[in-house]
Amino acid sequence: MSNEIESVLHETRVFPPPQDFVKQANVSGQAAYQALLDESDRDPDGFWGRHAREHLTWRKPFTQVLDESKAPFYKWFGDGELNVSENCLDVNLKNGNANKVAIIFEADGGEVKKVTYQQLYELVCKFANGLKSLGYKSGDRSVIYLPMSIEAVVAMQACARLGITHSVVFGGFSAKSLHERITDVGASLVITADEQMRGGKAITLKPAVDEAFAMGGCEAVRHCVVYKRTGGKVAWDAKRDIWMHELADNQSAECAPVAVNAEHPLFILYTSGSTGKPKGVQHSSGGYLLWAKLTMQWVFDAKPNDVFWCTADVGWVTGHTYITYGPLAAGLTQIVFEGVPTYPDAGRFWKMIQDHKATIFYTAPTAIRSLIKASEANAAHHPKSFDLSSLRLLGSVGEPINPEAWMWYHNNVGGGRCPIVDTWWQTETGGHMITPMPGATPLKPGSCTTRLPGITAAIVDETGGDVEAGHGGFLVIKRPWPSMIRNIWGDPDRYISSYFPSELGGYYLAGDGAQCDKDGCFWIMGRIDDVLNVSGHRLGTMEVESALVSHELVAEAAVVGRPDATTGEAVVAFVVLKRSRPEGDEAIAIGKQLRDWVAKEIGPIAKPKEIRFGDNLPKTRSGKIMRRLLRVVAKGEKVTQDVSTLENPAILDQLSSPV
Ligand code: WTA
Repeated sequence: MSNEIESVLHETRVFPPPQDFVKQANVSGQAAYQALLDESDRDPDGFWGRHAREHLTWRKPFTQVLDESKAPFYKWFGDGELNVSENCLDVNLKNGNANKVAIIFEADGGEVKKVTYQQLYELVCKFANGLKSLGYKSGDRSVIYLPMSIEAVVAMQACARLGITHSVVFGGFSAKSLHERITDVGASLVITADEQMRGGKAITLKPAVDEAFAMGGCEAVRHCVVYKRTGGKVAWDAKRDIWMHELADNQSAECAPVAVNAEHPLFILYTSGSTGKPKGVQHSSGGYLLWAKLTMQWVFDAKPNDVFWCTADVGWVTGHTYITYGPLAAGLTQIVFEGVPTYPDAGRFWKMIQDHKATIFYTAPTAIRSLIKASEANAAHHPKSFDLSSLRLLGSVGEPINPEAWMWYHNNVGGGRCPIVDTWWQTETGGHMITPMPGATPLKPGSCTTRLPGITAAIVDETGGDVEAGHGGFLVIKRPWPSMIRNIWGDPDRYISSYFPSELGGYYLAGDGAQCDKDGCFWIMGRIDDVLNVSGHRLGTMEVESALVSHELVAEAAVVGRPDATTGEAVVAFVVLKRSRPEGDEAIAIGKQLRDWVAKEIGPIAKPKEIRFGDNLPKTRSGKIMRRLLRVVAKGEKVTQDVSTLENPAILDQLSSPV
């Protein structure tokens, strides 16, 4: 256990929910939380069925809540039909929200554009009609590779309106990653932009799509729809490429939503696992949307006057659930931001909260940690230099938030008065799982606190037996829940082996190690598999290793994570070249070449922070690489473990010195 985790577990500060917040909260007080929890434990089907009827508009009502007959391939509300986009847009026009601002978009350069629910509805209908005119329909799959924009939300919603399953690829991924996803998902449609703006610079997007197409195997793709973001020059294939505005502008502003089965795949989102190949996490329509909406109300305490801001990118699950679907289903006004937190300066987030009077702010610990540093360096960028009095609730997601960062966030951004919801969840869970309810749960800095009603989170040992409070174990969810992953696209066996290993008796295995304290609060201790969390992004060590060994100079590579004060974890790669071990300037030059190679193969987020070269890697006599020892070496610590089983113990000294 690292020192950091140990010190987190000694954290004793408790922050009860502020009385003013409790008074107005959707779930008000501990007893209200407990009542929901008890109901969900006593009668799960009744609980979920009630909420699904209350919160969603169904085209065909369901008669069965949960079908477990093919477990772990669960079906929720499986004979019901609905349309997700209708539940996000049409219902708001009916509920009197037509003229309410749905999205406040702020571009990288600061330009602001607002659309009302009526306008968003029309944009989505026009684009959906355009896609329809090209022959796209329910059952097709699209890949969306767009910058943060109103258009990204429109594209996803238009797909949902027609029953087209979307797979959004983060704009920072390379042509190769894009190619892998286009082919794996079998896309017939790609939606992209000419360029995106980040930190004052234009970064091209369409060339990566062209490059992916040129790699072959994408023949199923009939069209590439291009959003003109900057007007930058792009290569054009007139048979395949079509501008988004030319497709949509002259279409009718009405497009009937297509009713789909509740289990219809709304989206497939790729995430890293413990092998080299990312997993296509398949999500449903009904169960997913139900949880997106309910967690908006419970965890974010959504109210009609809120201005909600989730800073994630729609390329990640957080952007799916808490930008494209949840806030719209809850009828909120939300901020969508194109840029980065440090441009034009590190005060950008605080200025935007001030300008748009954000009431709920949801971001990642890595952003908070980097802004702490920046505001210490320059008082003008400190949150205290801005009027943040509109805020009433803060959130954190993606990685554990260390108590120091929590306290800073609480005091400086939240003015000491805003609860912080530290939300633990995953791409696979669809929405929040373990998190405070801000009007009910006492907060403990560093803990994501308690399970949500309906979520049977627990800590177990390797045989599935319950582990006592205060002891570490595997984090599992014992019973299925509506927004859970339904399958790994095209790989049902991997779905079972990754998430429902037989030793655990049918529990969902999250892949995180954690422990629970005597109050039932969970403390996440990090992944139990070969997955790293770098700046809140999941990254498989095997993915980075495969990228490295595909370089012509590399014979062997082992990748581990090292704790990092800003990014949570950092990638450290140990590399053996086919030729002799480089030293000095040559090592630096080859190191740079390999880092750029990884960025090109996967994306800049996967670039190793450090590369160390060795004549060999530490291996057991049977040839297994001892990653455990590499993790120690990567941290700059002395290896104190027994290394007698190593074939080549001396190699550890060589690998201990950074290039
Ligand atoms: C980690 C992001 C501690 C965890 C929504 C999980 C967290 C992985 C938290 C999922 C949190 C996410 N506290 N750890 N509040 N939130 N994690 O799929 O290891 O990108 O398994 O989903 O991030 O990452 P993913």
